[in-house]
Amino acid sequence: MRSEEFELSGMTLDKMKAAAQTKMKQDVWEWINGGTETELTLQRNRAALERIVLKLRVLHGLEKVSTSVTVLGKALKTPVIVAPFAHVGSVHPEAEMALAKGAEKAGAMMFLGQVSTCSAKRVVEAAGTPIVWNAEPLRDRKALIAAMNEAEQSGCCAVGVCVDDYAGVKVKERLKPLRNKSFTANELKELRSATSLPFVVKGIIDIEDALMAADACADAIVVSNHGGRVLDGCQASIEVLSDIVKAVGSGVEILIDGGFRRGTDVLKALALGARGVLVGRPICWGLAAAGAQGVARVLEMITDELQRAMLLANVPSASTVPRDCVIVG
Ligand SMILES: Cc1cc2nc3c(=O)[nH]c(=O)nc-3n(C[C@H](O)[C@H](O)[C@H](O)COP(=O)(O)O)c2cc1C
Repeated sequence: MRSEEFELSGMTLDKMKAAAQTKMKQDVWEWINGGTETELTLQRNRAALERIVLKLRVLHGLEKVSTSVTVLGKALKTPVIVAPFAHVGSVHPEAEMALAKGAEKAGAMMFLGQVSTCSAKRVVEAAGTPIVWNAEPLRDRKALIAAMNEAEQSGCCAVGVCVDDYAGVKVKERLKPLRNKSFTANELKELRSATSLPFVVKGIIDIEDALMAADACADAIVVSNHGGRVLDGCQASIEVLSDIVKAVGSGVEILIDGGFRRGTDVLKALALGARGVLVGRPICWGLAAAGAQGVARVLEMITDELQRAMLLANVPSASTVPRDCVIVG
Protein backbone atom coordinates (compact mmCIF):
# COMPACT_ATOMS: atom_id res chain seq x y z
CA MET A 1 0.00 0.00 0.00
CA ARG A 2 1.39 3.45 -0.92
CA SER A 3 1.82 5.86 1.99
CA GLU A 4 -0.79 8.25 0.55
CA GLU A 5 -3.37 5.41 0.44
CA PHE A 6 -2.44 4.38 3.98
CA GLU A 7 -2.97 7.91 5.25
CA LEU A 8 -6.23 8.23 3.34
CA SER A 9 -7.71 5.09 4.87
CA GLY A 10 -7.50 6.67 8.34
CA MET A 11 -8.90 10.06 7.25
CA THR A 12 -11.95 11.70 8.72
CA LEU A 13 -13.82 14.35 6.76
CA ASP A 14 -12.48 17.06 9.07
CA LYS A 15 -8.91 15.92 8.45
CA MET A 16 -9.58 15.81 4.71
CA LYS A 17 -10.90 19.38 4.86
CA ALA A 18 -7.83 20.54 6.79
CA ALA A 19 -5.51 18.79 4.30
CA ALA A 20 -7.39 20.42 1.41
CA GLN A 21 -7.00 23.89 2.89
CA THR A 22 -3.21 23.54 2.98
CA LYS A 23 -3.24 22.83 -0.77
CA MET A 24 -5.53 25.62 -1.93
CA LYS A 25 -5.01 29.34 -2.41
CA GLN A 26 -7.01 31.36 0.15
CA ASP A 27 -9.33 32.98 -2.42
CA VAL A 28 -10.18 29.59 -4.00
CA TRP A 29 -10.75 28.12 -0.54
CA GLU A 30 -13.16 30.92 0.36
CA TRP A 31 -14.91 30.67 -3.01
CA ILE A 32 -15.55 26.94 -2.59
CA ASN A 33 -16.63 26.95 1.02
CA GLY A 34 -18.64 30.13 1.24
CA GLY A 35 -22.31 30.88 0.66
CA THR A 36 -24.27 33.93 -0.47
CA GLU A 37 -24.16 37.17 1.51
CA THR A 38 -24.96 36.43 5.19
CA GLU A 39 -24.74 32.65 4.58
CA LEU A 40 -28.10 32.04 6.29
CA THR A 41 -29.11 29.39 3.75
CA LEU A 42 -25.69 27.75 3.83
CA GLN A 43 -26.09 27.35 7.60
CA ARG A 44 -29.78 26.45 7.34
CA ASN A 45 -28.96 23.45 5.13
CA ARG A 46 -26.95 22.01 8.03
CA ALA A 47 -29.26 23.18 10.83
CA ALA A 48 -32.33 21.61 9.19
CA LEU A 49 -30.53 18.28 8.80
CA GLU A 50 -29.47 18.41 12.43
CA ARG A 51 -33.10 18.92 13.54
CA ILE A 52 -34.09 15.54 12.07
CA VAL A 53 -33.35 12.57 14.29
CA LEU A 54 -32.92 8.90 13.46
CA LYS A 55 -34.55 6.13 15.48
CA LEU A 56 -32.08 3.70 17.04
CA ARG A 57 -33.61 0.23 16.61
CA VAL A 58 -31.56 -2.66 17.93
CA LEU A 59 -33.64 -5.79 18.61
CA HIS A 60 -33.94 -7.15 15.10
CA GLY A 61 -31.00 -9.48 14.41
CA LEU A 62 -30.07 -7.59 11.22
CA GLU A 63 -26.47 -8.39 10.21
CA LYS A 64 -26.15 -7.16 6.67
CA VAL A 65 -27.41 -4.13 4.82
CA SER A 66 -27.16 -3.04 1.21
CA THR A 67 -26.34 0.52 0.14
CA SER A 68 -27.06 -0.31 -3.52
CA VAL A 69 -29.63 1.80 -5.34
CA THR A 70 -30.81 2.42 -8.88
CA VAL A 71 -30.75 6.03 -10.08
CA LEU A 72 -31.90 7.02 -13.59
CA GLY A 73 -31.84 3.34 -14.52
CA LYS A 74 -28.24 2.81 -13.39
CA ALA A 75 -27.36 0.32 -10.65
CA LEU A 76 -24.99 1.96 -8.16
CA LYS A 77 -23.12 0.73 -5.08
CA THR A 78 -24.04 3.88 -3.20
CA PRO A 79 -26.74 6.58 -3.19
CA VAL A 80 -23.97 9.18 -2.65
CA ILE A 81 -23.40 11.12 -5.89
CA VAL A 82 -20.71 13.57 -7.03
CA ALA A 83 -22.34 17.03 -7.48
CA PRO A 84 -21.48 19.16 -10.54
CA PHE A 85 -18.84 21.89 -10.21
CA ALA A 86 -17.68 24.72 -12.42
CA HIS A 87 -14.00 25.77 -12.47
CA VAL A 88 -12.81 22.67 -10.67
CA GLY A 89 -9.45 23.05 -12.43
CA SER A 90 -8.56 25.59 -9.74
CA VAL A 91 -8.91 22.82 -7.13
CA HIS A 92 -6.75 20.11 -8.76
CA PRO A 93 -4.95 19.85 -12.13
CA GLU A 94 -6.74 16.59 -13.00
CA ALA A 95 -10.09 18.26 -12.26
CA GLU A 96 -13.11 16.39 -13.74
CA MET A 97 -10.98 13.40 -14.78
CA ALA A 98 -10.05 12.83 -11.14
CA LEU A 99 -13.68 13.30 -10.06
CA ALA A 100 -14.76 10.60 -12.53
CA LYS A 101 -12.03 8.16 -11.51
CA GLY A 102 -12.83 8.70 -7.84
CA ALA A 103 -16.54 8.15 -8.48
CA GLU A 104 -15.77 4.96 -10.41
CA LYS A 105 -13.64 3.57 -7.57
CA ALA A 106 -16.47 4.17 -5.11
CA GLY A 107 -19.19 2.84 -7.46
CA ALA A 108 -20.89 6.24 -7.48
CA MET A 109 -22.69 8.30 -10.12
CA MET A 110 -21.18 11.65 -11.14
CA PHE A 111 -22.80 14.87 -12.33
CA LEU A 112 -20.49 16.70 -14.74
CA GLY A 113 -20.85 20.49 -14.89
CA GLN A 114 -20.97 22.16 -18.28
CA VAL A 115 -18.14 24.53 -17.33
CA SER A 116 -15.49 21.82 -17.48
CA THR A 117 -11.75 21.71 -18.23
CA CYS A 118 -12.30 18.79 -20.62
CA SER A 119 -15.02 17.38 -22.87
CA ALA A 120 -17.79 15.09 -21.64
CA LYS A 121 -16.43 12.46 -24.07
CA ARG A 122 -13.04 12.39 -22.33
CA VAL A 123 -14.67 12.16 -18.91
CA VAL A 124 -16.98 9.32 -20.00
CA GLU A 125 -14.06 7.46 -21.57
CA ALA A 126 -11.87 7.95 -18.47
CA ALA A 127 -14.18 6.08 -16.13
CA GLY A 128 -16.79 3.36 -16.40
CA THR A 129 -19.22 5.10 -14.11
CA PRO A 130 -22.52 6.73 -15.10
CA ILE A 131 -22.06 10.42 -15.92
CA VAL A 132 -24.96 12.88 -15.90
CA TRP A 133 -24.16 16.01 -17.92
CA ASN A 134 -25.48 19.15 -16.22
CA ALA A 135 -25.95 22.33 -18.26
CA GLU A 136 -25.93 25.96 -17.27
CA PRO A 137 -29.21 27.79 -18.09
CA LEU A 138 -27.46 29.62 -20.96
CA ARG A 139 -29.28 32.66 -22.36
CA ASP A 140 -28.47 31.33 -25.84
CA ARG A 141 -30.89 28.38 -25.84
CA LYS A 142 -29.69 27.14 -29.25
CA ALA A 143 -26.14 26.88 -27.95
CA LEU A 144 -27.49 25.10 -24.88
CA ILE A 145 -29.32 22.50 -26.97
CA ALA A 146 -26.25 22.00 -29.19
CA ALA A 147 -24.05 21.43 -26.12
CA MET A 148 -26.63 19.04 -24.66
CA ASN A 149 -26.77 17.05 -27.88
CA GLU A 150 -22.97 16.82 -27.90
CA ALA A 151 -23.05 15.46 -24.33
CA GLU A 152 -25.67 12.95 -25.45
CA GLN A 153 -23.35 11.75 -28.23
CA SER A 154 -20.49 11.44 -25.71
CA GLY A 155 -22.07 8.55 -23.85
CA CYS A 156 -23.48 10.35 -20.80
CA CYS A 157 -26.29 8.32 -19.20
CA ALA A 158 -28.52 11.37 -18.69
CA VAL A 159 -28.50 15.10 -19.30
CA GLY A 160 -29.98 17.98 -17.40
CA VAL A 161 -29.92 21.61 -16.54
CA CYS A 162 -29.30 23.60 -13.40
CA VAL A 163 -32.26 26.02 -13.37
CA ASP A 164 -31.38 28.16 -10.35
CA ASP A 165 -28.14 29.68 -11.57
CA TYR A 166 -29.33 32.61 -13.72
CA ALA A 167 -28.62 35.60 -11.44
CA GLY A 168 -25.03 34.48 -10.94
CA VAL A 169 -23.44 32.66 -8.06
CA LYS A 170 -22.63 34.95 -5.14
CA VAL A 171 -20.28 33.97 -2.36
CA LYS A 172 -20.42 36.48 0.49
CA GLU A 173 -20.38 39.78 -1.49
CA ARG A 174 -18.40 38.35 -4.42
CA LEU A 175 -20.72 37.94 -7.40
CA LYS A 176 -19.75 35.84 -10.42
CA PRO A 177 -22.07 37.24 -13.12
CA LEU A 178 -23.21 34.78 -15.79
CA ARG A 179 -24.79 35.00 -19.22
CA ASN A 180 -27.68 32.84 -18.07
CA LYS A 181 -31.45 33.27 -18.03
CA SER A 182 -34.35 31.81 -16.06
CA PHE A 183 -36.45 29.15 -17.81
CA THR A 184 -40.15 29.40 -18.52
CA ALA A 185 -42.24 26.21 -18.36
CA ASN A 186 -42.40 26.10 -22.16
CA GLU A 187 -38.66 26.56 -22.57
CA LEU A 188 -38.06 23.69 -20.17
CA LYS A 189 -40.40 21.49 -22.22
CA GLU A 190 -38.53 22.44 -25.41
CA LEU A 191 -35.20 21.56 -23.85
CA ARG A 192 -36.55 18.25 -22.58
CA SER A 193 -37.89 17.33 -26.00
CA ALA A 194 -34.45 17.98 -27.57
CA THR A 195 -33.00 14.84 -25.97
CA SER A 196 -33.99 11.19 -25.84
CA LEU A 197 -31.88 10.60 -22.72
CA PRO A 198 -33.28 10.76 -19.19
CA PHE A 199 -33.60 14.45 -18.27
CA VAL A 200 -32.73 15.99 -14.89
CA VAL A 201 -33.75 19.40 -13.52
CA LYS A 202 -31.40 20.61 -10.77
CA GLY A 203 -32.05 23.52 -8.45
CA ILE A 204 -35.70 23.17 -7.36
CA ILE A 205 -36.81 24.18 -3.87
CA ASP A 206 -40.45 25.10 -4.46
CA ILE A 207 -43.46 22.80 -5.00
CA GLU A 208 -44.89 24.80 -7.94
CA ASP A 209 -41.51 24.66 -9.68
CA ALA A 210 -41.28 20.93 -8.99
CA LEU A 211 -44.70 20.38 -10.56
CA MET A 212 -43.62 22.40 -13.64
CA ALA A 213 -40.48 20.27 -13.97
CA ALA A 214 -42.61 17.11 -13.67
CA ASP A 215 -45.02 18.51 -16.27
CA ALA A 216 -42.04 19.04 -18.59
CA CYS A 217 -41.41 15.28 -18.27
CA ALA A 218 -38.26 15.51 -16.17
CA ASP A 219 -37.12 12.02 -15.15
CA ALA A 220 -35.42 13.37 -12.03
CA ILE A 221 -35.38 16.56 -9.97
CA VAL A 222 -32.49 17.61 -7.76
CA VAL A 223 -33.97 19.45 -4.77
CA SER A 224 -31.23 22.02 -4.22
CA ASN A 225 -30.49 25.63 -3.33
CA HIS A 226 -27.03 25.34 -4.93
CA GLY A 227 -25.43 24.74 -1.54
CA GLY A 228 -26.57 28.18 -0.32
CA ARG A 229 -24.86 29.92 -3.24
CA VAL A 230 -27.84 31.55 -4.97
CA LEU A 231 -30.65 33.08 -2.83
CA ASP A 232 -29.57 33.82 0.72
CA GLY A 233 -32.44 33.39 3.18
CA CYS A 234 -34.32 30.69 1.24
CA GLN A 235 -35.32 27.33 2.72
CA ALA A 236 -32.98 24.42 3.29
CA SER A 237 -33.36 21.67 0.72
CA ILE A 238 -34.13 18.96 3.31
CA GLU A 239 -37.01 21.09 4.65
CA VAL A 240 -38.92 20.90 1.38
CA LEU A 241 -38.00 17.34 0.37
CA SER A 242 -41.07 15.48 1.72
CA ASP A 243 -43.55 17.96 0.25
CA ILE A 244 -41.89 17.81 -3.17
CA VAL A 245 -41.81 13.99 -3.13
CA LYS A 246 -45.51 13.95 -2.23
CA ALA A 247 -46.42 16.56 -4.86
CA VAL A 248 -44.69 14.98 -7.87
CA GLY A 249 -45.54 11.36 -7.07
CA SER A 250 -43.59 8.25 -8.02
CA GLY A 251 -43.07 9.15 -11.71
CA VAL A 252 -40.12 11.45 -11.01
CA GLU A 253 -36.98 10.40 -9.14
CA ILE A 254 -36.06 12.88 -6.43
CA LEU A 255 -32.43 13.58 -5.62
CA ILE A 256 -31.23 16.19 -3.15
CA ASP A 257 -28.17 18.18 -2.10
CA GLY A 258 -27.13 20.88 0.35
CA GLY A 259 -25.17 20.32 3.53
CA PHE A 260 -24.85 16.52 3.40
CA ARG A 261 -21.67 15.55 5.24
CA ARG A 262 -22.35 12.20 6.92
CA GLY A 263 -23.92 8.84 6.17
CA THR A 264 -26.54 9.64 8.82
CA ASP A 265 -27.53 12.76 6.82
CA VAL A 266 -27.92 10.59 3.72
CA LEU A 267 -30.13 8.10 5.59
CA LYS A 268 -32.41 10.97 6.67
CA ALA A 269 -32.91 12.08 3.07
CA LEU A 270 -33.58 8.52 1.87
CA ALA A 271 -36.21 8.14 4.62
CA LEU A 272 -37.90 11.33 3.43
CA GLY A 273 -38.14 10.04 -0.14
CA ALA A 274 -34.87 10.89 -1.92
CA ARG A 275 -33.36 8.25 -4.15
CA GLY A 276 -29.86 9.69 -4.00
CA VAL A 277 -27.86 12.51 -2.42
CA LEU A 278 -25.40 14.77 -4.22
CA VAL A 279 -22.39 15.89 -2.20
CA GLY A 280 -20.62 19.11 -3.13
CA ARG A 281 -17.89 20.75 -1.06
CA PRO A 282 -16.59 17.58 0.66
CA ILE A 283 -15.83 16.17 -2.81
CA CYS A 284 -13.77 19.31 -3.53
CA TRP A 285 -11.88 18.74 -0.27
CA GLY A 286 -11.08 15.15 -1.28
CA LEU A 287 -10.05 16.29 -4.75
CA ALA A 288 -7.74 19.01 -3.41
CA ALA A 289 -6.22 16.75 -0.75
CA ALA A 290 -5.50 13.67 -2.87
CA GLY A 291 -6.98 13.82 -6.39
CA ALA A 292 -9.06 10.81 -7.50
CA GLN A 293 -8.09 8.81 -4.39
CA GLY A 294 -9.32 11.62 -2.17
CA VAL A 295 -12.62 11.81 -4.05
CA ALA A 296 -13.10 8.05 -3.70
CA ARG A 297 -12.24 8.22 0.00
CA VAL A 298 -14.87 10.90 0.70
CA LEU A 299 -17.52 8.89 -1.13
CA GLU A 300 -16.51 5.67 0.65
CA MET A 301 -16.39 7.35 4.05
CA ILE A 302 -19.95 8.66 3.74
CA THR A 303 -21.13 5.31 2.32
CA ASP A 304 -19.49 3.38 5.20
CA GLU A 305 -21.21 5.66 7.69
CA LEU A 306 -24.51 5.11 5.89
CA GLN A 307 -24.04 1.34 6.10
CA ARG A 308 -23.44 1.48 9.85
CA ALA A 309 -26.37 3.85 10.40
CA MET A 310 -28.65 1.49 8.45
CA LEU A 311 -27.60 -1.41 10.65
CA LEU A 312 -28.40 0.60 13.78
CA ALA A 313 -31.73 1.86 12.44
CA ASN A 314 -32.89 -1.55 11.17
CA VAL A 315 -32.87 -0.56 7.50
CA PRO A 316 -31.84 -3.49 5.28
CA SER A 317 -31.82 -1.67 1.94
CA ALA A 318 -30.96 1.89 0.86
CA SER A 319 -33.44 1.54 -1.97
CA THR A 320 -36.44 1.18 0.38
CA VAL A 321 -35.89 3.23 3.51
CA PRO A 322 -39.06 3.50 5.61
CA ARG A 323 -40.31 6.98 6.50
CA ASP A 324 -40.68 6.02 10.14
CA CYS A 325 -36.94 5.65 10.75
CA VAL A 326 -36.74 9.43 11.22
CA ILE A 327 -38.48 11.99 13.43
CA VAL A 328 -38.67 15.48 11.98
CA GLY A 329 -38.37 18.02 14.84
C1 LIG B 1 -17.17 25.38 -6.13
C2 LIG B 1 -18.58 25.00 -6.52
C3 LIG B 1 -18.94 25.04 -7.85
C4 LIG B 1 -20.24 24.68 -8.23
N1 LIG B 1 -20.56 24.69 -9.56
C5 LIG B 1 -21.80 24.25 -9.93
C6 LIG B 1 -22.15 24.16 -11.31
O1 LIG B 1 -21.36 24.47 -12.20
N2 LIG B 1 -23.40 23.72 -11.63
C7 LIG B 1 -24.30 23.35 -10.66
O2 LIG B 1 -25.41 22.93 -11.00
N3 LIG B 1 -23.99 23.41 -9.36
C8 LIG B 1 -22.76 23.85 -8.97
N4 LIG B 1 -22.45 23.91 -7.65
C9 LIG B 1 -23.44 23.46 -6.64
C10 LIG B 1 -23.25 21.97 -6.33
O3 LIG B 1 -23.48 21.18 -7.46
C11 LIG B 1 -24.19 21.50 -5.23
O4 LIG B 1 -25.51 21.85 -5.56
C12 LIG B 1 -23.84 22.07 -3.84
O5 LIG B 1 -22.44 22.24 -3.69
C13 LIG B 1 -24.36 21.12 -2.77
O6 LIG B 1 -24.14 21.61 -1.50
P1 LIG B 1 -22.91 21.13 -0.56
O7 LIG B 1 -21.68 21.75 -1.11
O8 LIG B 1 -23.30 21.68 0.78
O9 LIG B 1 -22.86 19.62 -0.57
C14 LIG B 1 -21.17 24.29 -7.25
C15 LIG B 1 -20.79 24.25 -5.90
C16 LIG B 1 -19.52 24.61 -5.53
C17 LIG B 1 -19.14 24.54 -4.08
